[in-house]
Amino acid sequence: MCGIFAYTGDRRAAGILIDGLRVLEYRGYDSAGIYTAGSPLAVRAVGTVRNVAEKVGGRLIGTSGIAHTRWATHGGPSEKNAHPHTDCSKKIWMVHNGIIENYKELRTRLALHGHVFASETDSEVLVHLIEEHMRALGNDFEQAVRTSLKEVTGTYGLAFMHADNPGVVMTARMGSPIVIGIGKGEYFVASDPTPILHHTKDVVYLNDGEFAVISKEGYSISTLDNALIERIPSTIEWDIDDVKKGGFEHFMLKETIEEPEVILNAIRGRLVVDEGLARLGGLREVADQLADIKRLVIVGCGSAYYAGVVGKYMLEEYAGIPAEVEVGSELRYRKMLFDKETAVLAISQSGETADTLAAIKEAQRKGVMTLGIVNAVGSTIARETDAGVYNHAGPEMGVASTKAFLSQLCVLALLTLFLGRQRGMSAVMGKRIAEEMLLLPGKVEVILNAREKIRAIAHKYGHARDFLYIGRKYNAPIAYEGALKLKEVSYIHAEGYGAGEMKHGPLAMIDEAFPTLAIAPKDSVYEKMISNMEEIRARKGRVIALATEGDMNIKEHADDVIYMPKTLEMLSPVLSVVPLQLFAYYVAVMRGFNVDRPRNLAKSVTVE
Ligand code: F6R
Repeated sequence: MCGIFAYTGDRRAAGILIDGLRVLEYRGYDSAGIYTAGSPLAVRAVGTVRNVAEKVGGRLIGTSGIAHTRWATHGGPSEKNAHPHTDCSKKIWMVHNGIIENYKELRTRLALHGHVFASETDSEVLVHLIEEHMRALGNDFEQAVRTSLKEVTGTYGLAFMHADNPGVVMTARMGSPIVIGIGKGEYFVASDPTPILHHTKDVVYLNDGEFAVISKEGYSISTLDNALIERIPSTIEWDIDDVKKGGFEHFMLKETIEEPEVILNAIRGRLVVDEGLARLGGLREVADQLADIKRLVIVGCGSAYYAGVVGKYMLEEYAGIPAEVEVGSELRYRKMLFDKETAVLAISQSGETADTLAAIKEAQRKGVMTLGIVNAVGSTIARETDAGVYNHAGPEMGVASTKAFLSQLCVLALLTLFLGRQRGMSAVMGKRIAEEMLLLPGKVEVILNAREKIRAIAHKYGHARDFLYIGRKYNAPIAYEGALKLKEVSYIHAEGYGAGEMKHGPLAMIDEAFPTLAIAPKDSVYEKMISNMEEIRARKGRVIALATEGDMNIKEHADDVIYMPKTLEMLSPVLSVVPLQLFAYYVAVMRGFNVDRPRNLAKSVTVE
């Protein structure tokens, strides 16, 4: 969603803000803008941050300011809808990430009081509301902000400035993340820690309902009712190099190439191979409770949901725990029939996805234990859940998830081992899984080393208008994920199906112009997959197979084959997703699209 960034200190703010927006651009890239103290107006532009940087030139000299990169919700991408927004007096400046739900009624009321609106956004009502309250509160800006925030409903991560009080930035949070970066004589506010990393690793995270006033002298956090809050700063564990492309053309490729290391980071120190055990420090305190759960409900969105489906199969087969998987946007509004023997597990890279978070909160209200598999340390889902496991995959900057998805699969395998060994899983089986997991980085490396071949296949088929992805059992969710990846970055219509479902409808679409990617490793459903591939070929459909190294038979059933090393069936998704990520990447690059900034999308979906 949108990204906000603010600075106060002694340095010139404009350059710092522009650089910060460049890092945050993955959160939204419809339009951007900045306001710095001492400037009569904000600088805003449609499109990327570069357009704002060009407009700014060297003319802004203020040493504090606020900035925003937008993913449009209310009001299309245009200069007038770009943030920062200002009031009628042009003194109050604000950037907003989230949605003000009662903006229509506020706008009507404020318009009756003479306020003139310059944009179509929901956000703008807030600056006029503050202006209105300032009049009633003897020009007390801070109090006017607090009072106004109590009147709005919806979600926000905000930063404000007042032209008459340069050097002071205020920030508030309700549902959309806010991190304060603590430098030496300078402070930062951002939607996530990535732009702060360039300046400091010391941060404090705001919680919902909190408000902070920041100047170069320091910061104070309080509730909207002005009750002071003490919070110990934490340290960002990511490195600055993690948020740079490091010589790669795109983050998506860089992050796919990082996958062997991502697996190592997910399993490091967590496998006791000889005993066939997984040690998950984040679950230690709830281990006894977990031993008693009878049902697991997994919740996630998009790729995280598909990872959850793989997790369900693992947990049911090896840990004997009945599991269900739900998308957050549905679960949050459904009747949740949970009991004390149910646990809810959220999977989220960002740890900020609004729908996943809402489902978790609803589950907590029902008294159910909540767990998280989260990549972003300190994120809301990580903090809200009762216990959890971090991915340690490093920041994912490409909008399409690659390494985080793969890492989620690995952590789900660890969780299966952990819960399985609490139940019936033998030490021998545990050891087999652990041993195989240790081999995964090298096996992914083998696939990555064959990427030229995947590129050639992508170029051969990349002109198609539609694609089908099929798989069975553990690889059915990987078919969904492969199709999602292609849709996201190349805008090609792609559908993922459990291969057995083909004959119940989708087979009707198949002809020579509609290729199919078939995930067919040598596993318990191999023969079934071969039959499904033949059904497609009988309808003149072309088939690209993902097969196990050494499987020569598959060549008789496919037009092209991509080979992967052999592994345990339950771990095969960790390997099979890699060629699909590369395939989507190469097709999108061939078609000339910016794979790191797919149209209409943004990383970290912090609105409903
Ligand atoms: C797809 C993708 C999205 C995310 C989804 C959940 O490539 O990136 O589908 O997986 O928005 O995001 P997180 O994991 O941050 O909750």
